[in-house]
Amino acid sequence: MRVLAGVLAMAALAASQCTQSFPNATFDLSKLRVPHGTYTVRDNRGNQNATVDPQNPSYDSYIYMFNVCDNVEPDAFPAGPSWSTCETTTGAGRGFGKTTLSTPSAAFQYLYLAGKNGAAPYAECHRLSADVASHPGNETWSLVEPGNPSRGVQVRYEGGDLCCANGMSACSDPQPRSLELQFFCKDDTANVFDRETVLEYGKCHYKIWLDTASGCPTQCPIVSGHLCSGHGVCDFDTTSKQPRCFCNEGFQGNSCSDPVVVQSGLSAAGMVLIFVSIFLVFFLVVLYYLWRKIRSLRLDPNAYKSLTGGPEADGAAIYDD
Ligand SMILES: *[C@@H]1O[C@H](CO)[C@@H](O)[C@H](O)[C@H]1NC(C)=O
Ligand SMILES: *[C@@H]1O[C@H](CO)[C@@H](O)[C@H](O)[C@H]1NC(C)=O
Ligand SMILES: *[C@@H]1O[C@H](CO)[C@@H](O)[C@H](O)[C@H]1NC(C)=O
Repeated sequence: MRVLAGVLAMAALAASQCTQSFPNATFDLSKLRVPHGTYTVRDNRGNQNATVDPQNPSYDSYIYMFNVCDNVEPDAFPAGPSWSTCETTTGAGRGFGKTTLSTPSAAFQYLYLAGKNGAAPYAECHRLSADVASHPGNETWSLVEPGNPSRGVQVRYEGGDLCCANGMSACSDPQPRSLELQFFCKDDTANVFDRETVLEYGKCHYKIWLDTASGCPTQCPIVSGHLCSGHGVCDFDTTSKQPRCFCNEGFQGNSCSDPVVVQSGLSAAGMVLIFVSIFLVFFLVVLYYLWRKIRSLRLDPNAYKSLTGGPEADGAAIYDD
């Protein structure tokens, strides 16, 4: 029982590692983590029709394999050349010799040249990150737009294979490769990361733009699979200095899920007036009915008899004859 409680506590701890708080805004990327899996993104600057399957590349392109708040495990790679190419990766070195890494990594860059026109196929792999599962310090979070948490959050992985700014295999100041995942806040809970824009900003530093509702601060809730219930937009409230849902007309609440109760335009006094009017009409109808009755009594003297049990008196008169 205690073991189970411990396991549950550890599971809760692991799950909470994928959240980050900034002043007045909190982000939770835990839904994007793929346990023992990977995202495979093809740089969409290349052939739009090409496959992302490193096993069956029909073209020459860079493929990025990464996880969110976790490493890419070897079993996430397709069998075959991809893991054997990535198991130990080679980086640049200072002066003589190259450096190698075989540590866990949250991101890999994989290049496959199909070897057209009789050339032999060629595969190359680089680590873009160090171990982030047991060393969260290799993962740094920041806002996509400083001062505006409603735009999204970015996570930077550092500590990949060394790289020289001049592209050579040795230099005096090789820098570790890095990858920045930019999670732009969009009302999109279904976006599958596959063909995205990958940017190299500075030699060996990569950036991937991703549109996802997970990139929104938790102050803009996702209800029924939609940001701000699909009835508003997530933006920054410059008065309260916090991100929040700005609801469309007709909706309210912090997640815009409550319909605004339509005002009938009637005040309590108006309701009383209508009630009094109905009562008055009813009263007048009764009054009219009584007036008709009294008038008929006045015109027809016999009516007095019918009103006071006249028929009996008439009958008596008949028998008297
Ligand atoms: C992609 O495929 C479409 C039709 O399948 C074709 O018309 C187009 O030329 C292809 N684009 C490239 C870049 O190969
Ligand atoms: C980054 O990860 C490496 C192992 O991959 C570890 O040695 C190093 O201490 C980590 N750095 C931080 C800041 O956690
Ligand atoms: C956070 O909110 C408080 C008031 O709610 C405000 O004074 C402060 O400037 C905000 N901080 C940031 C970084 O926006």
